[in-house]
Amino acid sequence: MAAAGSGATAGHENWSSRSAFILAAVGSAVGLGNMWRFPAEAGENGGGAFVLFYVFCVLLIGLPVLLSEVLIGRHGQASAPDSVQKVAQDSGASKGWSVIGSLGVFAAFLILSFYCVVGGWVVYYIGVFLGDLFQTGLTGGAFEGRAAEDIESLLPGLFGNGMLMIGLNMGFLAATIFFVARGVSSGIEWVAVYLMPLFFLLFLGITVYGAFTGNFSEAVTYLFTFDFSKLTGEVMLAAVGQAFFSLSLGVAGMITYGSYASRNTNLGATSGIIAGADTAVALLAGLAIFPIVFAAGLSASVGPGLMFQSLPIAFQAMPFGSLIGLAFFIMVFFAALTSSVSLLEAPVAFVKDRFKMSRMTATIIVGLGAAVLGVLSSLSFNDMADFRPLAFIPLFAEANFFDALDGVTAKLFMPIGAILTCIFVGWVADAKLIDDENGLDGVLHQTWRALVRYVCPIILAVILFFGIFG
Ligand code: PFF
Repeated sequence: MAAAGSGATAGHENWSSRSAFILAAVGSAVGLGNMWRFPAEAGENGGGAFVLFYVFCVLLIGLPVLLSEVLIGRHGQASAPDSVQKVAQDSGASKGWSVIGSLGVFAAFLILSFYCVVGGWVVYYIGVFLGDLFQTGLTGGAFEGRAAEDIESLLPGLFGNGMLMIGLNMGFLAATIFFVARGVSSGIEWVAVYLMPLFFLLFLGITVYGAFTGNFSEAVTYLFTFDFSKLTGEVMLAAVGQAFFSLSLGVAGMITYGSYASRNTNLGATSGIIAGADTAVALLAGLAIFPIVFAAGLSASVGPGLMFQSLPIAFQAMPFGSLIGLAFFIMVFFAALTSSVSLLEAPVAFVKDRFKMSRMTATIIVGLGAAVLGVLSSLSFNDMADFRPLAFIPLFAEANFFDALDGVTAKLFMPIGAILTCIFVGWVADAKLIDDENGLDGVLHQTWRALVRYVCPIILAVILFFGIFG
């Protein structure tokens, strides 16, 4: 087996410390998935049953796959495809396994393109609340004197304006490009080290505020009362999908971040911290959003509109509503940016290594590609609403461009990438190499190995099957 770190690609960058790695990886995991998607999914899937199964999925599937991914990256010390290839070579297996990394890099690129569209909506709401703060003043509720329908129609209003959508999308993408172009330690790490603590501060403030001013007990009952009868196949599928998206798995992002980790980082412990922090933020996001929504007498099950439509209505009735609304969306912006940066970094690391380009050139090329797809995604809500790019595939026949990217990545790329990763780490890679990298001992090691070899691939295959045929 190769000696520690000897496989490092010349000039491969590194995190400046273990805590920088943790903050960046938590930054990647915590994002729109926690603040926007998790509460929406929990609300649509009946609350407690979904939440409990989600936590179960994080522990049983998410965490083992996360450790497998960072482990591949740390051993390979290169972009995702090259890292997988290095592990394969050091294990005497076919170089062809690098397809895991290539598929992942491509998926990350696709997700990046539509993630930045939603990032643009967040920027729009920052603008809306900022304007409102000037109009209504500091202490009043948000949107004084405006009807609820009026506030609700802000989002469809934005969707109707293709040029504004594209502009906001490009703005968010440009911010992402800026930080990735600056490199691992002075760009990506900088964002994580400064924005993640700010995120946690704002997040704590809003959760406490929600707990005191909102209907906290109803939210707790809703999120943590477990009713077995509500745990349908569909709810389970939604929970696994959410766990994957939230932990940034199956798309090379965590392999890439793992590749910047140093030899003395204990990957088992670090993966536990990342998964724990991500799950805590998701649960607390529910405890921040639902009390506010319930106090305003609104429904939990409106889906994606929860954060962008219901929550702003709820802020109307609250003291300091505009200020809280502004703080809320700034916080979501920070979380989204630290995630989009990781989505861009995976393909940039690949292009840079494979085509021997400078980081700047690679970032601009990948960024331009994401911009083109972003324009098409932005137009899916207006001028191109009737365009069905995958009409020939029954599963995606009804999807517009934005939905098609979302569907293909979540239903195909993520589970396929994760199944291949489990087979590769569990069955193909050299057991000694894996033992040396994972930082686990005794029972924990045995449990992790059994999960990666049997439990994860089987459950993921079932999910893939039902995701396609169900
Ligand atoms: N985990 C991010 C979120 O919850 O918003 C989304 C994400 C980031 C997915 C990076 C995949 C990824 F590689």
